[in-house]
Amino acid sequence: MTHTMLTIRDLHASYGAITALHGISLDVNEGELVALLGSNGAGKSTTLKSICGVLRPVYGSVVFLDEQIANKTPESILKRGISLVPEGRDIFTSLTVAENMRLGAFVSYNRKRYQEDLEEMFGLFPILKERLHQPGGLLSGGEQQQLAIARALMSHPKLLILDEPSLGLSPALVDQIFELIVRLRERGMTILLVEQNAERALRVADRAYVLNTGVMEFSGTPEELENELDIASVYFGGGEGNKEVTL
Ligand SMILES: Nc1ncnc2c1ncn2[C@@H]1O[C@H](COP(=O)(O)OP(=O)(O)OP(=O)(O)O)[C@@H](O)[C@H]1O
Ligand SMILES: [Mg+2]
Repeated sequence: MTHTMLTIRDLHASYGAITALHGISLDVNEGELVALLGSNGAGKSTTLKSICGVLRPVYGSVVFLDEQIANKTPESILKRGISLVPEGRDIFTSLTVAENMRLGAFVSYNRKRYQEDLEEMFGLFPILKERLHQPGGLLSGGEQQQLAIARALMSHPKLLILDEPSLGLSPALVDQIFELIVRLRERGMTILLVEQNAERALRVADRAYVLNTGVMEFSGTPEELENELDIASVYFGGGEGNKEVTL
């Protein structure tokens, strides 16, 4: 039986006079990798901000593990087990790799577990061990993305949310990040993945949602989405390597 982890219903969000989400619904079940797709300005990051408490929804419900979290603070939502890797990574460039990882663990710091977690992260991200005492700002884009994901994992999230983790990375690094996402999923992590690279995301996702200017236009399996797009003869694709959903 599938257990629902996150249930969003009729979520409205705005920035002052600008309404960014017009009543969207979305579910993430335990162990699933769910992709949230859509073009620039569709409302993907706004959805994630609303889940994490960074943006307070105007209306609607966000239930995580049977508890309403729509009006909780970002800290309390993090403590409940939702960890966001924001757009643009947002690591502390003047702090070392080790210090960045330590910050990720602040919600439930325990010295012994912290050491074990660090070792586990070095297994997933060997480069971080080599760079442990270097400032985050000296890492490459892909390494910074790995650090951002490692930092998020240090809080032992039940739900990991990634906002465009492949943005701005070279094709080789995009491959690495997607391999990592697949590995995390195989280890049982529940993941909500926002991507502009729809083709890549659909290759790894269990289910997908497509947002268009604040309205949820589609939800279903990747196969269903591809069929839907064929039937509608909607242009689905762009330049090589970076295909976008353009509905
Ligand atoms: N801080 C803000 N203040 C005002 N409007 C905003 C703000 N952030 C986003 N918006 C607007 O809300 C809408 C949704 O933006 P959002 O960032 O959620 O899009 P997105 O799908 O994440 O796009 P992208 O793929 O470019 O990251 C857009 O019209 C955007 O201009
Ligand atoms: Mg965004």
